Amino acid sequence: MVDFAAIEKMKRVSVSRPYMRCRKWFGLGLLAVALFTSCMHSSAQATRFSGAPPLLLGTAWYPEQWNEDRWEQDLSLMEACNIHVVRVGEFAWSSLEPAKGQYKFDWLERAVEKAASHHILVVMGTPTAAPPAWLTSKYPETLRIDEDGHRDEHGERQQFSFASERYRQLARGITEQMAIHFGHNSNVVGWQLDNEYRRISYDPESRRQFHAWLKTKYGSLDNLNARWTTAYWSQAYDNFDEIPARPSKENPGLLLDWNRFVSDTWKSYSQNQIDVIRLHSDPRQFITTNTMGWFSGFDHYMVHENLDIAAWDDYAGRGDYQYVPNGMAHDLVRGFKQKNYWVMETQAAFTQFEPMDRGQVRDMAWQAIGHGADAVLYWQWRSALNGQEQYHGVLVGTDGTPVPAYDEIKQVGAEFAKAGSALAGTTPHSQVAMLHSYEAWWAIDFHRSNETTDFNPIASFTQFYVPLQRFAQSVDIISPDAAFDQYRLIEAPALNVLSRTTADRLAKYVRQGGHLVLGVRSGMKDEYNTLHVQRQPGPLADLLGGRVEQFYSTSKTFQVAGEAGSGTGHTWAEALSVKNSETKVLLRYGHSNSWLSDQPAMITRRVGKGSITYIGTWLDDALVDSLTTGFVAESGVSPILKGVPDGVEVCERSSKEHKVLILINHSTTPQHLDRQASMRDLLVDGNPQQTSVDIPVYGVAVFEEKGK
Ligand code: GAL
Repeated sequence: MVDFAAIEKMKRVSVSRPYMRCRKWFGLGLLAVALFTSCMHSSAQATRFSGAPPLLLGTAWYPEQWNEDRWEQDLSLMEACNIHVVRVGEFAWSSLEPAKGQYKFDWLERAVEKAASHHILVVMGTPTAAPPAWLTSKYPETLRIDEDGHRDEHGERQQFSFASERYRQLARGITEQMAIHFGHNSNVVGWQLDNEYRRISYDPESRRQFHAWLKTKYGSLDNLNARWTTAYWSQAYDNFDEIPARPSKENPGLLLDWNRFVSDTWKSYSQNQIDVIRLHSDPRQFITTNTMGWFSGFDHYMVHENLDIAAWDDYAGRGDYQYVPNGMAHDLVRGFKQKNYWVMETQAAFTQFEPMDRGQVRDMAWQAIGHGADAVLYWQWRSALNGQEQYHGVLVGTDGTPVPAYDEIKQVGAEFAKAGSALAGTTPHSQVAMLHSYEAWWAIDFHRSNETTDFNPIASFTQFYVPLQRFAQSVDIISPDAAFDQYRLIEAPALNVLSRTTADRLAKYVRQGGHLVLGVRSGMKDEYNTLHVQRQPGPLADLLGGRVEQFYSTSKTFQVAGEAGSGTGHTWAEALSVKNSETKVLLRYGHSNSWLSDQPAMITRRVGKGSITYIGTWLDDALVDSLTTGFVAESGVSPILKGVPDGVEVCERSSKEHKVLILINHSTTPQHLDRQASMRDLLVDGNPQQTSVDIPVYGVAVFEEKGK
């Protein structure tokens, strides 16, 4: 199951004639070459294959779990469901290498060939998240050790140590064999490495590698001791081997480096397989791995450096599909490579066991496309008769015939075909960005707040995102290392770790006319997780012309009021001060007996055409909403569409030539929308020009506008 951390949490159309023509053409195209376009490595569109539809509907198929004489029926049902891609191979190690060095690929070759005969492309999953029993019996040292010192046993999955050289060697072996078999197969479009990197290991080998990593990073122990301030509690190290590996209760410098080491180790874990795939495959085949949205176990920007595209598993949990946080997770994933991505897994109506409503599967699929996905794959085609996930949502039941969700998914596929060519080559473009830093997130997580409050950095991030998304309708979530110049407004809710380099880049952005909003706890620490000697926001304090005099973690709620509005603050409060005559106080704490009494709570400074603003407390939602209206207006950000009713989401994907609007009614009441400009309705037969649209409950409308 996907870990969603703290936030984790119609029109019927038949398969049209043009669509059938497209399928025929698609089949011919496949026989030619499924060439991966050069866009693959550009910053815009990520995933186009010549010969394939621009939007792909797919599913996870595990042919090894079924008799071969069943495959034809499954693939026919998939084809009838408008499915164009299956992911196979994932977890099939024991079927591909039943004994060490004895490979059995004939069945998978036949499965891929059969899929091709049904015009279904293949993503090859490397099976390394599920090592076979012979491997773990023969090489028990490859089993991971958890943070309490227990070694994993066989029987679940992901029981390997991510740092084990032996395991990597064996993983390379099976991956290389797969690449030899499928690296030049025209029906195989790409590779998914492993599955949902997650479990790490504290075994002696991981620790040794951590020590070597630290040595490379710091060069000397003197340097490390200075950066981590190890004079504190006699932590000074005389030898790299003495340094513990722990996920909590450690020196903050060590904790940050441990997480960076983990990220680097997952990156080299990928590289181990990438090397052998690249050796034996066509460059057109992409390489990715499937991640889990807001999972905090590694720095996703780092882990995506050597991958071609991002792909993630979008599960709405127990039927509780909340479209705003879900859209936020899409924006996060788009930011990993700053280009279009895939939804490699999503639920066919439910995980275990509570369903979403009828219509929400389609709603969710279109939301993915609206935010920049080029493929949506359902997990899974049919449940294994036994195994840990027997109750999971599927497309066909144990008897092999369609379950109720099948028809809705089939409709999605038909609609992808209708709107696909207009969406080809398009991607979302945003005028606003939010900075997301894993380092800042971790640094706060190590020291969230006092025992009575819970400072959840992603909850704080979400609070800024929600109104920004509502006003701007498109938000990029980017790393602080990404380029800033394309944005009118950048918000960084709790940029706790702020290096001098990032601060300089942000200062330049503001001086060039950008608008920067920093939230509470920002600019407190440097990249070693060491407190800045300058008060918050550290290296940006001079530009701000103000600073934090004192911070407080508090269980009290207090009043704030001023030019920017009025409301309350809670959880964390910083008493600010002004040091420059150009800096204005926008909010003050109310009069009280506390240290906060009458102190500035929000300050701002105009810098040329730009501005820098610092908010020193966790404000209530209503006040954040109204402040966001001001930020958006001041920075000249315009929404995609005005007058959009509550519960309707508007997404825009565009290219130089045209733009496509995707409107989704996530609410449980029908909605109506007027537009001045007339647009081509892509989901209605004949593509009529429309100036208004009625969208039923969980309905979707897709419009194209030529010329931007
Ligand atoms: C995912 C995982 C799949 C399956 C699914 C069930 O996290 O990648 O293999 O377990 O959850 O929801």
